[in-house]
Amino acid sequence: MTMPVINTHPHSNLTLEHFIELSPLAIARLDAESTVIEANAAFHHLTRDVFKTSAQPIRLIEILEKDEKGALTNQLEQAAAQSAAAPISLSLNLEGHGPVMVSCYATCMRPAANQAPVLILHLIDQTEQKNLEMRFAHSQKMQAVGQLAGGVAHDFNNLLTAMIGFCDLLLMRHPAGDPSFADIMQVKQNANRAANLVRQLLAFSRRQTLQPKTLDVTDLLSELSNLIRRLIGENITLNMTHGRDLGMVKADQGQLEQVIINLAVNARDAMPEGGTLTIRTNNISIHKPGIPSKNMIAPAEDDYMLPGDYILVEVEDTGTGIPTDIITNIFEPFFSTKEVGSGTGLGLSTVYGIIKQTGGHIFVTTHLGKGTIFSLYFRQHQAAQAPVEEAAEDARATDLTGGETILLVEDETPVRIFAARALRNKGYDVLEADCGENAIEVFQQHSGQVDVIISDVVMPGMNGPKMIAALEKQFPDKMADMQIIFISGYAENAFVDSFGPDREFNFLPKPFTLKQLAAKVKEVINSKGQSDSAG
Ligand SMILES: Nc1ncnc2c1ncn2[C@@H]1O[C@H](COP(=O)(O)OP(=O)(O)OP(=O)(O)O)[C@@H](O)[C@H]1O
Ligand SMILES: [Mg+2]
Repeated sequence: MTMPVINTHPHSNLTLEHFIELSPLAIARLDAESTVIEANAAFHHLTRDVFKTSAQPIRLIEILEKDEKGALTNQLEQAAAQSAAAPISLSLNLEGHGPVMVSCYATCMRPAANQAPVLILHLIDQTEQKNLEMRFAHSQKMQAVGQLAGGVAHDFNNLLTAMIGFCDLLLMRHPAGDPSFADIMQVKQNANRAANLVRQLLAFSRRQTLQPKTLDVTDLLSELSNLIRRLIGENITLNMTHGRDLGMVKADQGQLEQVIINLAVNARDAMPEGGTLTIRTNNISIHKPGIPSKNMIAPAEDDYMLPGDYILVEVEDTGTGIPTDIITNIFEPFFSTKEVGSGTGLGLSTVYGIIKQTGGHIFVTTHLGKGTIFSLYFRQHQAAQAPVEEAAEDARATDLTGGETILLVEDETPVRIFAARALRNKGYDVLEADCGENAIEVFQQHSGQVDVIISDVVMPGMNGPKMIAALEKQFPDKMADMQIIFISGYAENAFVDSFGPDREFNFLPKPFTLKQLAAKVKEVINSKGQSDSAG
């Protein structure tokens, strides 16, 4: 039987000092004035060797912010008096580096009663942790603002639809030349401005109803170039370079234009002395997931790209550049460095919302005093067949009158009253319902007559899509070729929930004008006529 061997030899030359030197914790010995007397490798590494390389002894408080110096002095005094003190958070200012955030633990040893106390400091690096916390708080803030914006926008769009709508009705009685005409136009124009603001908020919160189409970016940019040139003024040169055989993207045209315009306006503002605005497109294949170039900054931590074929649109200026300390803020709503009145700070947050909702990516590269590049990446879209939608649009008639029967379902009374009156003015028969349940009853009573259903999406009780689904179940024959137009202030999951992702609907975003409403109804009725005669 063998006995375990216990080695009782003391371990040669290894002392506790070696362990301290090798510790991953930063450890230092200080005197009562916080002068660093000796320290381990981790401490020197954390403090970027300032205490090692300096000829004179340096005190730790010298590398602290003013308001933190007192905290350290207090901690050291407390440790000297009670042998240990509660940990504190400090941020170290080291030349040529960003702030280093640490937790600082102080303890005190007294070698002998008549000897000076020895203060020992342990520092734990918290920089990464603190940065994460900050980013988390930032993304929470973005989310909260987005949610709030979506909620407010929904109500606002109803109010604005009624305001703009009743202005339109008034304008029919007070046309140009009437003494009241100018005043009504003022009201309408201001309501339209409010509607624009709401649209931006919705874009940011990604609640906007996009109407994506297969788009040729080259055409889109060429068409925009005149407008951009006018926006940037004469002392800025516009330089547009189109990539060869550029692929197609699937996006909402109006939204994509808005993105380019916002970026162009920002570029202009960054070049008050003039300069060059370059808009460049290219096909590009991404092979590695992540951020395409290490100079690029993403708006949010989770923004990275998957490998695939993309279309890259770069908007580059030769302006002021963006300082590093604000770069993480620029995509926040209401963040603006411009004078009060000249910028609301919604430009980039709108851009970001649209890009994200389109499934694209945006990154920024900037050099102070040299300029900034915003790089937009969109998935290349294979156009399956020639776009059919355009044909239907061309058929839009200028005659907006009609005699069909329309079931109008809308819970907001002012919106419903306006829409009903607008449609009756154009000759239509309008049946009104103020909720989904009521709509089913009305449909039952007049089932043979209804040609078109116009319905709000969000309503208390049964929502619009659910109401349509119920009608389809109850009256499959009558609903088979029913024309349906949804009107809504913002994008809803309600469609997908009720019908799955593939079914397409006619959609009219709120707020709408009398003319837009009448045109949409006409378009839908005409398209029915076409498909009937085709079929
Ligand atoms: N091309 C750029 N060059 C330099 N700074 C920029 C550039 N683009 C944006 N910024 C900075 O980002 C901030 C936010 O931009 P954003 O477009 O969101 O708001 P804004 O232009 O100030 O106001 P708004 O677009 O609502 O009129 C700007 O105030 C500016 O400081
Ligand atoms: Mg802007």
